[in-house]
Amino acid sequence: MIRLDGVGQVFEGRGGRVQALDGIDLHVRQNEFVTLIGRSGCGKSTLLRLIAGLLPPTYGGVEVAGEPVTGPRRDVSFMFQRPALLPWRSVISNVMLPVEISGGDSERSKSQYRDRAHELLDLVGLKGFERRLPHELSGGMQQRVSLCRSLIRSPKVMLMDEPFSALDALTRTELSAELQRIQMELATTIVFVTHSIEEAVVLADRVAVLTPRPGRLREIVEIDIPRPRSLGQNAHLADVAQISGHLHGLLAERPHDQVDVPEARR
Ligand SMILES: Nc1ncnc2c1ncn2[C@@H]1O[C@H](COP(=O)(O)OP(=O)(O)OP(=O)(O)O)[C@@H](O)[C@H]1O
Ligand SMILES: [Mg+2]
Repeated sequence: MIRLDGVGQVFEGRGGRVQALDGIDLHVRQNEFVTLIGRSGCGKSTLLRLIAGLLPPTYGGVEVAGEPVTGPRRDVSFMFQRPALLPWRSVISNVMLPVEISGGDSERSKSQYRDRAHELLDLVGLKGFERRLPHELSGGMQQRVSLCRSLIRSPKVMLMDEPFSALDALTRTELSAELQRIQMELATTIVFVTHSIEEAVVLADRVAVLTPRPGRLREIVEIDIPRPRSLGQNAHLADVAQISGHLHGLLAERPHDQVDVPEARR
């Protein structure tokens, strides 16, 4: 579903040149859940933006569903760390926004999308809040609205950039369970960035570990734990802990060949 071949990203700015990513080869199968971890600034968000078509790669190839990515696609959704809801629109019309902006697919009418929006809000525990405005909701509730919005067009691919990091532990546990359920139901392909190693292990079919800048793939770890899995009570706690320990070790590696020096000082 997603192919990155020899992808690299270099940013040229006033402060110098930043090599954010280099030599990324990553193939994600349909219905696969890949989580992406790495130190702050290693290029995780950049990688998602490349897949989303929000940024062209400096070099290398990016494909989604067998086609080169040339810009945003309607079957790919992006969910950010912050909900980014439109403050003047009600909950339901925020969820409907993607359908209104660029349309849905021809098989579904607007009223079917509206029904689906109600269904999704119900699913994430927001029944009864459809007419509220975003400022009347808590941060966690707003993030659930954002999740519904990214699901409204049943995307083939969901790109999620630390979507649950601002949530309390319980809401995070509930939403990650919900996300796994939705993914199984819709056969969605998900690339999910997180700073929580445990979350990365619990959610993923594979965890991709990036090195510090420039981000290169350090290792891809298969997670062979039966689903559904829970962040909270975990029947497989020992397995999660063991894999987490390994991932922690990879993240803790210090790069000795990579020192960031602004261009002007080189
Ligand atoms: N538009 C841009 N222009 C210049 N440099 C950028 C731009 N976007 C990202 N960078 C640089 O690229 C590197 C990777 O950034 P990115 O946001 O992808 O990191 P990240 O892994 O998502 O970090 P975090 O975990 O903190 O979110 C950083 O050094 C950042 O400064
Ligand atoms: Mg980021």
